[in-house]
Formats: sequence, structure tokens, C-alpha cells
Amino acid sequence: MSSQAAHPTLLIPGPIEFDDAVLQSMGHYRQLLPVLVYSESHVGPGFVATFGDTLSKLRKLFQTTDPASQPFVINGSGTLGWDLVAANLVEPGENVLVLSSGYFGDAFADCFSAYGAKVTKITGAVGSRPQPDEIEKALKEKKYKVISATHVDTSTGVLFDLKSLTAIVKRVSPETLIIADGVCSVACEEIDFDAWGLDVVITASQKAIGCPTGLHISMFSGRAIEVVKTRKTEPAVYFASIKRWLPIMQNYEAKKPSYFSTPSPQLIRALNTAVSQVLDRPLSERFQRHIEASDKVKKTVADLGLKVVASKPEDQAHAMTAIYLPDSVSPPDILPKLLNKGIIFAGGLHKDIGSKYIRFGHMGPSVMDPKRRDVDNALDALKGALAECGYKA
Ligand SMILES: Cc1ncc(COP(=O)(O)O)c(C=O)c1O
Repeated sequence: MSSQAAHPTLLIPGPIEFDDAVLQSMGHYRQLLPVLVYSESHVGPGFVATFGDTLSKLRKLFQTTDPASQPFVINGSGTLGWDLVAANLVEPGENVLVLSSGYFGDAFADCFSAYGAKVTKITGAVGSRPQPDEIEKALKEKKYKVISATHVDTSTGVLFDLKSLTAIVKRVSPETLIIADGVCSVACEEIDFDAWGLDVVITASQKAIGCPTGLHISMFSGRAIEVVKTRKTEPAVYFASIKRWLPIMQNYEAKKPSYFSTPSPQLIRALNTAVSQVLDRPLSERFQRHIEASDKVKKTVADLGLKVVASKPEDQAHAMTAIYLPDSVSPPDILPKLLNKGIIFAGGLHKDIGSKYIRFGHMGPSVMDPKRRDVDNALDALKGALAECGYKA
């Protein structure tokens, strides 16, 4: 039985529902002791050991065994990952190719521009992603320092085929650094950092990893770190400086205290528990469970006579679904009815279709915890809420 207070089930595409053990670890909670929270030094031996262990475990989550790869965990959120990439890997005036399949791809492009990069953007049609021939053509036309793709664009639920992308880049422009925004994909979609030859994957604590909001998490390749070390100009950032954070992460992983800016002991303890839970079972099993939940959601949506925003099955994310509403129903009609049934979904976010769809996040404990019926409950609530809006399948 969960010890969380009764609450509507949070099934937006992040933050997600949390496991009790993750929340309890923020307060050093012991099941048998009525003692909840105490503060802890960020350089004390207990916390240093936990932080070091967390960084080592992240190597397994991202599937890298290359000692030159470097995990980073920094107070912040997914957006900090964009700043780390744009400010540290690209010098002003250098070319960047951004592949966008929605709001978050567009925003990553804006972040690159903010640091002076010359951005070329390829945007997929709504509900789709940039196509391999367009990407190959662009890479042949110009030298790009960096190419970025949003693995799952949370605004549309479109999944990018990262593995094929890396194969194209390695063949056509092997020097180009490959960056993946994995904010809505790490710990729910397969990412094989070494085998695919990725250079940076960024994410955040509050999505499929299942830890409260507040941590930026990323993996940089040895090649990306080398680019940071050998750049000609100093990056115009202070907090988001990879050079400043690198020795801190290396020290913590070697279980040595270190200081640049105070980390959150509570959040990092929660992250340690969340990542340990993810790694308790083979990653392949976790990805498969998300695929099965996704299949169930997409089938129910089709049976209801509705469409998902990501039109082709191969472009559909497995940990969220963006669902087009019937013409007669709008998000403000249906979201309160879902809430009355104890389910929270999110509204649309894409600039062209925002008022026509809703988003359902099915990831982390809602999919992995066999005691929970979150996905089934949500699908029942969706059917009931549509009927209350007067819709008949
Ligand atoms: C794909 C993607 N990238 C980046 C972000 C930005 O992350 P945050 O809101 O944690 O700053 C989000 C947030 O939902 C996202 O879904």
C-alpha cells in the first residue's frame, strides 16, 4: 500500500507518478523509525558516496562502458541540458543542424541561436519527423559542428529513429557531434550510447527516470569533452560551464568531496533510488513494458475512432501518446472531466494544433509497477469523459 496522500494520478508526460521509496529517500526515511527528514552536508562522506554511486549507475542507464564518457548531474532541469550543449560545444558563428518534430526541437534551435550558433533547422510535417534523405542532403551541403535531434518530442509524441540518424551522420559527416534530447526518452526508449556513437544525451529527473523535478542529467562522450577542452574561445557562461563541472563530477564519482555549486543531497538521494530501481531489471525488459503499454493505449484510441498525432506507427513514442480529440470536444471540455475521474492529462502544446489534442504520459512506475492500474484506469476515464462530452465512438 502506498503511503502517499490520496491524489489524482499524474499522467502528463512529466513530471510523473513517483514510487514511495524514491520520495522516502529524500528524507532518509526508515520504514520502522518515525524519523523523517534531516539535513545533510553536500561534502559529507555519506552523501559523497551516494552521489558517486549515482554517477556510476548512470553509465549503465545510458549504456556506456567507455571510461572517456562523462555523466553530469547538475541542479536544474531539461532546459539546462540545451544550454550546456549550445554554450560549450558550439562557438559563435559555427553551424548547427537541428532536427525538429515539434515545440521542443524548435526551442532547442532557439537556444543554439541564443549562444550565437548559425542554425539550420529541418522540421518534420506535424506528426512526423525530418526524413533521412533531407538530413543526408543537408549534411552534404555544409559542414556542421553539431547535429541535434529530439528523441521524443513531448509536444507531439513523435519518436526519432536515433540509431538510423547516427548511421547517416557517421557515413556522411563523421566529425559532426551527435546530440540527442532524451528528456522524454531516457529510461523508457532504447538508447545505446556507445554502440550508436552518440556524443551527448541530455535528460531531466522528472520524466521516465521517476525522480522529482530539479536535476539535469546528461552523458557526454570523450569526443565531446575534448571539443570543450580545445575550443578557441571561452564559453559565455558561468554556471553552465562543462569545464567547471567536469572535475566536480570526476571527484564525486571517485568518492571525493568537491565544490563548484551546491548540489541537492535530497534530490540526488532520490535519483539514486530511482536509477537503482530502473537498473533492478534488464533495460530491454523495461523498454518492452513501455512498448506494450503504448500498444494498449494506441489500440484503445483507434477503437474509440480517434487518431494519434504521430501518424505513422514507426514514429510513435512508447511512453506518451498525443491524442486528437473529436471535432466537437476541446481540451478545456475534457480535462476537468478526466480530473473528476482522478486522472490528470496534459493539453496540447504544438503551435499549429494545440487546441485539438491532449497528451497522456505512460511511463515509469505507472507502467512498471505491477500493483498499479494507472494505464487501465486512465483509458477507462478517457472513455467515460468522452461519453460525458457527448462523443460516441
Ligand atoms: C523533449 C524535451 N526537451 C526539453 C524539455 C525541457 O525540460 P524542462 O522542462 O525540464 O526544463 C522538455 C520538457 O518537457 C522536453 O519534453
